[in-house]
Order: sequence, then C-alpha cells, then structure tokens
Amino acid sequence: MDSIIVRGNGPLHGQIPIAGAKNACLALMPATLLSEEPLTLTNAPRLSDIRTMTELLASLGAEVTGLQDGKVLATSCHGEINPVADYDIVRKMRASNLVLGPLLARLGHAVVSLPGGCAIGARPMDIHIDALSALGAEIELKEGYLHAKALGGLRGAVHEMRFASVGATENFLMAAVLAKGSSVLKNAAREPEIVDLARCLRAMGAEIEGEGSSTITIQGVDRLHGATHPVVTDRIELGTYMLAPAICGGEVECLGGKIELVESFCEKLDAAGVSVEETATGLKVKRKNGRIRAVDVVTEPFPGFPTDLQAQMMALLATAEGTSVLEEKIFENRFMHAPELMRMGARIEVQGGQATVHGVEKLKGARVMATDLRASVSLILAGLAAEGETVVSRVYHLDRGYERVEEKLGAVGAKIERVKGE
Ligand code: UD1
Repeated sequence: MDSIIVRGNGPLHGQIPIAGAKNACLALMPATLLSEEPLTLTNAPRLSDIRTMTELLASLGAEVTGLQDGKVLATSCHGEINPVADYDIVRKMRASNLVLGPLLARLGHAVVSLPGGCAIGARPMDIHIDALSALGAEIELKEGYLHAKALGGLRGAVHEMRFASVGATENFLMAAVLAKGSSVLKNAAREPEIVDLARCLRAMGAEIEGEGSSTITIQGVDRLHGATHPVVTDRIELGTYMLAPAICGGEVECLGGKIELVESFCEKLDAAGVSVEETATGLKVKRKNGRIRAVDVVTEPFPGFPTDLQAQMMALLATAEGTSVLEEKIFENRFMHAPELMRMGARIEVQGGQATVHGVEKLKGARVMATDLRASVSLILAGLAAEGETVVSRVYHLDRGYERVEEKLGAVGAKIERVKGE
C-alpha cells in the first residue's frame, strides 16, 4: 500500500487547479441509465471512486469510456440492462446506491446490494427506501440486497423526507423524472451537487424546478435524450486546498473556486484569521497577520458547514490560539482522525459528537494512518504544518477523492512525495 511523506516546509505560493466534484460526478454517471442516448460528462475528476462507478455501470450493461488522462467521460446505455448491482462492487463505495432510482425508472425493477463506503457511521438506506416507495416502488431486503419493483411503473407523488439526505434526494430525482405525473420532494437536500444533477437531467429533457431549495418539483416525461454536461467544481477539494495556505502561511489561488460553493466555510476561515478573495479565476487565500484563532464549528447540511471539511478544519484548529469546539451533526463516528492528529502533538478531547481542540504552537511529524477519505487529507495538511516528517499510510482512501494530491501541493512549494508500497 502506498504512503505519503510530508515535511513541514514553510509558506506555500502559487495556484492549485480544482477538479470537478467527485460527489456530483458519482450522481451524474448513473443518470446515463435513464436514456438510450449518450451522456457525456466534461470536467470529470480522475479518481478511484469514478473508476468504481464505471465498473458498476459496465456490470449493468452501460458503456463508459474516457478519462485516461483527459477529463471527459462518455457514457451510453442503449443495450440490454442488467438490473442487479452486485455486492462485490457496491461494497467498495456507498454512492453505488445511486443506481437504484435510475434502474427502477428505466426498468421498473432493480436489485441493489446494500452499500459499504467510508467507516464513518451506520449510514442506513431508510430515507432512500421511503422516498422511492412514495413513487410506488415496493422494496424488500433479502440476503443483503434491496429488491425493488414498480410493476405498473413509477407514479409521481408528494413526499417529505425525514432528513435532507443527499443520496436520497438524488435517487428520488432520477426516479421521478420518468414517473407518470408530477412529484414534489419536500425537505430536499440543497447541496450544489444536487443542483448540478438537476441541470444535467434538464439538459437531457427532464422537467425540474426548485433545485437548490428545500422543495423540488418534477414533472415526469416519457423519455430522456442524450446531453453533454460539465461537472461542477469540487467544493470539498476546494476547501481542502484553501486550508493549505491557512495552515502553512503564504498565498494560494484555488483555480475554479467560487465563494457560493463554500460560503459557510469561508465565514469560519475569516473568523479564524484567514482572508479569502474572489478573483476572475478562482479564490485567493492567505493567512492574515498572526496565529490562527480558535473558532467553533457545527457541521450541517448545505448551506451549513460541510461534514466533508470537518477533519481538515480540525487540522487547522489544532494549531490555533485558544480552544475550539467541533460538533459533528451528520455522521455519528467521524472523529477517527483525532487520535491520529494527537500522535502529532494535537490536544483533542472527543466526547460523543463533539471534539474539543486545544490549540498548540506546533505539531510534530509522526507516522499516522488514514482511516477514511477526508481524514487522510487532514493528516497531510497537519503534516505540512508540522516540524519534521509525517508519514501517512493507507492512502488508498485518499485516492478515492483527491487526484494527484502530491503534484498539486508540490507545485505550490510543499515537500510531499508518494512512496509506492506492495
Ligand atoms: C453524501 C456525500 C458524502 C457527504 C454526505 C453528507 C456523495 C457520494 N457522498 O453522502 O461525501 O459526507 O453526503 O454531506 O455525495 N441517512 C440515513 N438514512 C438514509 C440515508 C442517510 O439515516 O437512508 C443518514 C446517514 O447515515 C448520515 C446522514 O443521513 O448520517 C447523511 O447522509 P446523506 O446525506 O444521505 O449522505 P450520502 O448521500 O450518503
């Protein structure tokens, strides 16, 4: 297994290009199941999660090509479709569950294994099941698989989700676009990735209104056609790289970044003593004078502070002046990076969904282990600010969500290298 070695090396200067959003792309790719005509995604990120989705779609009968070195994914699903999403692929990544809605819409039935994914909590499927059941699907769990059928086809309905789940909103959207009649989803998730999916579905001929708000209205259509759609910028990769100059000093421009994608995050950066300026090409970030100040953070659904930036923010606050409290409200087990940061000298107490971080002057390099995708990059950020050498092992988690992290950080002056393992 590969490791990443980071050496603290002072301020960073330059530009970092931000890729298309992993989480948007993982929802856009299954949309190909909804049409016989090709769907082309531009600005797609080159990540192992995208390869996993490619493998899953291929197993269902779709063709997915492209992305060796480019950023274009050509997808098409004109032949026979296999309705079974197998455990061996689905267990690698929770987002595999996003084929459930489109398979049901296109075929009227689907058999999808319960997913795996990051070890950050229970992550059940009840909200997806309730949402698709509202559209007339009958869903049963048998031997680890969800068996879903809508024999007379899906019917539009009004449904309110008990929680604004991102994945369940995406599954509902992809099912409702081909349902008979109109649907209204209340308490829908408002994430930019949902907006991106709705835009793509609309380019394919779907009738959708209200995406980005808590109420989305969909008028079902008989068929969707092909389209070409650019994947929205990855706001989590953006926020992660914005933290690099915040932690190390210097000034970095994140190309393609927009404030609207990371507004609540920018508010916290401002309070911590980091300035963010929107330019014609991206977001320029630099630390204001003096040490980072402690701030309290609560993770919430969009537009609140994203849970996917909580671990990285903890790395910043580990060296702040004063005590910060981070409250995790989306996942129940998402502080596994805390003990690893403590190996680097951070002072953190975790109690339930709350972590209290007492800032220290300096972190120290250590051997640490990545426990999930966002945790792994938080350890790299901490390593950039630490004295000495930090070795982050198990970086396969990192490769799921960050393309060429060592190149991107290396280009702005970080000392970072990947060591190939067996
Ligand atoms: C998506 C993102 C993930 C991000 C998360 C929250 C993708 C591919 N992944 O995941 O990076 O961390 O949003 O912003 O887009 N829940 C249930 N029952 C359900 C569904 C969810 O209880 O049926 C719970 C989950 O256990 C979790 C919370 O709701 O505690 C949020 O989950 P959800 O919004 O569905 O996240 P994902 O779509 O899985």
